[in-house]
Amino acid sequence: MISSIVLSTLGLASLAGAIAPPVRRSACPKNTESTFLQCCVWYEALDDLQANVFNDGQCIEEAHEALRMTFHDAIGFSPTLGGGGADGSIMAHAEVELLDPANGNIDDIVNHLQPLAIKYPVSFGDFIQFAGAVGTSNCIGAPRLEFLAGRSNTSQPAPAGLIPAPFDNVTTILARMADAGFSPEELVALLASHSIAARDAVADPSQHARPFDTTPDAFDAQFFVETLLVGIALPTEGNVVGESPSPLLGEIRLASDGLLARDPRTSCEWQSFVTDHTAMNAKFKAVMAKLAVVGQDVGSLYDCSEVIPMPKGFASESAVIPAGKTMADIEGSCAGTPFPKLATLPGPVQPIPTV
Ligand code: HEM
Ligand SMILES: *[C@@H]1O[C@H](CO)[C@@H](O)[C@H](O)[C@H]1NC(C)=O
Ligand SMILES: *[C@@H]1O[C@H](CO)[C@@H](O)[C@H](O)[C@H]1NC(C)=O
Repeated sequence: MISSIVLSTLGLASLAGAIAPPVRRSACPKNTESTFLQCCVWYEALDDLQANVFNDGQCIEEAHEALRMTFHDAIGFSPTLGGGGADGSIMAHAEVELLDPANGNIDDIVNHLQPLAIKYPVSFGDFIQFAGAVGTSNCIGAPRLEFLAGRSNTSQPAPAGLIPAPFDNVTTILARMADAGFSPEELVALLASHSIAARDAVADPSQHARPFDTTPDAFDAQFFVETLLVGIALPTEGNVVGESPSPLLGEIRLASDGLLARDPRTSCEWQSFVTDHTAMNAKFKAVMAKLAVVGQDVGSLYDCSEVIPMPKGFASESAVIPAGKTMADIEGSCAGTPFPKLATLPGPVQPIPTV
């Protein structure tokens, strides 16, 4: 018993030959039990992060940005071009990687997270994936993401050009994702993240960010419906690069999202989530677990998922047509499967919430 605790403590359980049985223990100051002693530090970091970055555990802009950052760190990986994946390089080498235009507005969350990532004896790569999982857990309807720790704190800057941009066409985006090991279906599942997303105002950063759907604080399937509505409203600041007309004034549609929603390579998976929040969450959770270890030696990591809070759920499985729109506004794009009949919220068009 004692020897397995010691081995777990040193992260040597796997070197001991047989896989050590999980040792439930109660030595962390902030909780009653933890599988690995190394997970204790994450309970400390959790409280700090929730209190000081996520404004008491809310699904606020910083929580969204933390999720985005997990992708921008991890996708910096190519078997041929280099990059260490989910290695913390976006924070360790921010002065290099943030020059990539696709990393626009990541600086804000780097500034918020870096002091905490330095304060605790953890690697930047671990801290980024941790913050994304915790931030996501603050959003109602989200899955509880896996969190593995133990990444090295050493990294090199990822080469520029590995991060998909909103003005890229579908062929370019799918090729980039395939190069990093992700299928078109996995990309669609990853884009459930855009259900809790907004874009910072380009012309006037003091203005609120503009959401990608009508419910930016809920991890729901509204994003997958609203990206399929006929686009009529020009982006509020005119023709911003990488945006296309959205269905509702004040809502942002990334050009890439509008194209992926309609492309035969991705549209059926896209549509499938509209009435199946459970599948959306299960697939998102699975692909996030894969994203979080891109470029990493999984065998050397250990599971601290127990530290990630349990998100609040909601009853509804199905998305809805936003108020002021009808089923006729849907540009159904999955050949062979008609778009499902959705309930329509009553009343006139509602103002888009700001983030
Ligand atoms: C085709 C791939 C993708 C493209 C082109 C893309 C592009 C963008 C852009 C342009 C923004 C706005 C950022 C800003 O200026 O404030 C954004 C926001 C966001 N993205 Fe993506 N993204 C992609 C995939 C992903 C993936 C895979 C994830 C996570 C797993 C993700 C998570 C987010 C989140 C959470 C936000 C909201 C950030 C905030 O509200 O501040 N994105 N994305
Ligand atoms: C990880 O590396 C960064 C520099 O990239 C450093 O500031 C930080 O203190 C390191 N953390 C640990 C635990 O060594
Ligand atoms: C997609 O974009 C790439 C790079 O800009 C370009 O070479 C290619 O022709 C485009 N493909 C399509 C189908 O538009």
